[in-house]
Amino acid sequence: MLIAGARPNFMKIAPILEAFRARGHHDVLLVHTGQHYDAKMSDDFFTDLQIPKPDINLGVGSGSHAQQTARIMVEFESVCIQHQPDWVIVVGDVNSTIACALTARKLGIRVAHVEAGLRSRDMSMPEEINRLCTDAISDLLFTTDSGANRNLLSEGVPPARIAFVGNTMIDTLLRHIGTARQLPLATGMTERGYAVLTLHRPGNVDCPEALESIMGAVRQIADRIPIVFPVHPRTAQKLKGCTNHPNLHLVEPLSDLPFLGLVANSRMVLTDSGGIQEETTVLGIPCITMRPNTERPITCEMGANTLVGSDPRRIWAAAQAVLQSPPPTPCSPEKWDGCAAQRIVGVLLDEHSLPGR
Ligand code: UD1
Repeated sequence: MLIAGARPNFMKIAPILEAFRARGHHDVLLVHTGQHYDAKMSDDFFTDLQIPKPDINLGVGSGSHAQQTARIMVEFESVCIQHQPDWVIVVGDVNSTIACALTARKLGIRVAHVEAGLRSRDMSMPEEINRLCTDAISDLLFTTDSGANRNLLSEGVPPARIAFVGNTMIDTLLRHIGTARQLPLATGMTERGYAVLTLHRPGNVDCPEALESIMGAVRQIADRIPIVFPVHPRTAQKLKGCTNHPNLHLVEPLSDLPFLGLVANSRMVLTDSGGIQEETTVLGIPCITMRPNTERPITCEMGANTLVGSDPRRIWAAAQAVLQSPPPTPCSPEKWDGCAAQRIVGVLLDEHSLPGR
């Protein structure tokens, strides 16, 4: 049983489902928790990435962390009892990830976590709590890079529970980037002549002062280069007058291929997302990450990612440095080669390689 709930999950599950089917396994049930439900946050990704319609949709919707996590657990428990899966496979670090892992584990069902071992060491992020808890209870931990392996080993996880397989989100990127690059550019934009902005972390958008301070730097950058800003629904509720600038173009959230195309043709990305740090690394697009830390340090060590926090002076200085430098070289960390999902399915189908309980 494969779980997806929120926007960044969909590109991670698509290649796993496909790899199962390629090996002749059609008995994988796809469960959508309904954490994200707007067409632009969910259905459009299924269409874009040709993911089959979920077999089961728990339809939980939005709520506080406790409400959302609890609703998923209650609904998912019935599904597990009815279908008795051999494995529950969860991806990433959203509330759906921990809710389904915890439910399955308590029913004695084996759990595999894809994208395990990432650590920001920042417990103010809900995702860090989800990552730590999910890894602590999962039977099998699929990692994206050697830093994640080190994190898990240092926490005392036995090596037999860890499989370093690579990055399924990059599987999806490599599969679709050719098509994505050919999509029309956003209205009025030219190749490498614009920047992309995404912003949705509660730490950046929920406090009006923090948001206004970041948007001040964004408007300053927009004096130099047009910025396309696909606005997340959480952020849309908070933005007031701080987006008034003729060079700042607000658009609705984009599904995977239009977003990949937008990023691949841009001059730089300003973001507080996790996954975009990885996508820009592989694409060789400078990424300015408006967070004080990252669970994906490999993107700073090997890629074009710069952490600047939410200080407007640092955001502006980093953008200026990008505008004055040649573009970085695309960089693919080990095993970010388009075959991660095949490795995952290979491990799961080989009973001999699986760790015992
Ligand atoms: C969630 C994840 C975050 C991920 C992000 C990607 C958790 C704890 N957070 O944050 O890690 O980076 O998804 O988008 O799981 N909303 C809509 N329509 C939707 C979904 C949400 O309008 O389809 C609005 C609702 O008002 C909701 C708010 O956005 O309350 C936040 O949604 P939620 O899923 O709770 O958290 P995200 O900020 O999206």
